[in-house]
Amino acid sequence: MRVLVTGGLGFVGVHLVDQLLCMRQITLITVLDNCRHTAAPQALPKSQRVQFVQGNVLDSDLVTHLVTDCEAVVHLAAETFVDASIADDELFVETNVTGTAVLLRALRTLGKRRLLHVSTDEVFGEATNEPFTESTPYRPRNPYAATKAAADHLVHAYSVTHGVDAVICHCSNLYGRWQYPEKLIPVTVMRLLRGEPALIYGTGRQSRTWLHVVDAAAGLIAALASGTGGESYLIGGDRELTTLDVVGRIAEQLEVPAAEAVSFVDDRPGHDYRYTTNNDKARRELGWVPAIEFETGLKDTVDWMIEHPGWWKR
Ligand SMILES: NC(=O)c1ccc[n+]([C@@H]2O[C@H](COP(=O)([O-])OP(=O)(O)OC[C@H]3O[C@@H](n4cnc5c(N)ncnc54)[C@H](O)[C@@H]3O)[C@@H](O)[C@H]2O)c1
Repeated sequence: MRVLVTGGLGFVGVHLVDQLLCMRQITLITVLDNCRHTAAPQALPKSQRVQFVQGNVLDSDLVTHLVTDCEAVVHLAAETFVDASIADDELFVETNVTGTAVLLRALRTLGKRRLLHVSTDEVFGEATNEPFTESTPYRPRNPYAATKAAADHLVHAYSVTHGVDAVICHCSNLYGRWQYPEKLIPVTVMRLLRGEPALIYGTGRQSRTWLHVVDAAAGLIAALASGTGGESYLIGGDRELTTLDVVGRIAEQLEVPAAEAVSFVDDRPGHDYRYTTNNDKARRELGWVPAIEFETGLKDTVDWMIEHPGWWKR
């Protein structure tokens, strides 16, 4: 099987390609990526079975050509930083919505190919008492989440109307090696290593369900291989922590006194207070279970950032 991975130089992409390479039935992995600032080309595994194409998911001729030469597509290419989407959402609409539409049109025309569309739990908005499930209504509250929700709706519509064989995965908050230092964990590690406090929005009591990226990649591959077409799966972790909990653990590992580790700043507009996921369906139907404890994964991520200053000192 030949697989096209859009956005395959990004944080999730490089881990996904690494795991796809372990599957002998996969003969070629083509990575399409336009090398935005989050891309980590140095992390892409070197193999004759991996081919990199620099290009834009908005380029319909290129996308059609690449989809022609594969049997499955994993769609990761996206603009992903909520703060940037609040400042200016133009690129988010183009890449996340129009980019997904370009891919879907190619899949519709060519047929007989599976799409794994990677989405986020942020499309469900703010969790209250109950964790998100696959049937939670969509209520995106920031522009990033709204563009991901729009893309999900297009995928669902193409599945129902045009018979595109598509599976959607909603990942919870991910962390691990090669994450660009604009997201909470790597930016906190970077700031504390520089002797600067972590900047905490509002009270810091917002909570998220955390999942290691290696577990996430395994869940995505399980959905690609055995997910039911037209269905969606929550690929979420089991560990819910507040921002203050996460920053406190990083400060402890780096031996930064608590009083020097944080600086509170005004909350960002539309900041969701809580995301929490129920991953029962993925466990039951995909046979997937997250395996990496948060403490183990966080220690590995922090140690890795200490050993790889080239990733964040730029
Ligand atoms: N990281 C998380 O916590 C998380 C959680 C839930 C869902 N997701 C989803 O997973 C996917 C991957 O996220 P990530 O964390 O790896 O993001 P990332 O920003 O690290 O990677 C995105 C990749 O897409 C590429 N890209 C962007 N625009 C492109 C375009 N127009 N054409 C081709 N390539 C383009 C970038 O160069 C980059 O390599 C996204 O769809 C995101 O919404 C991520």
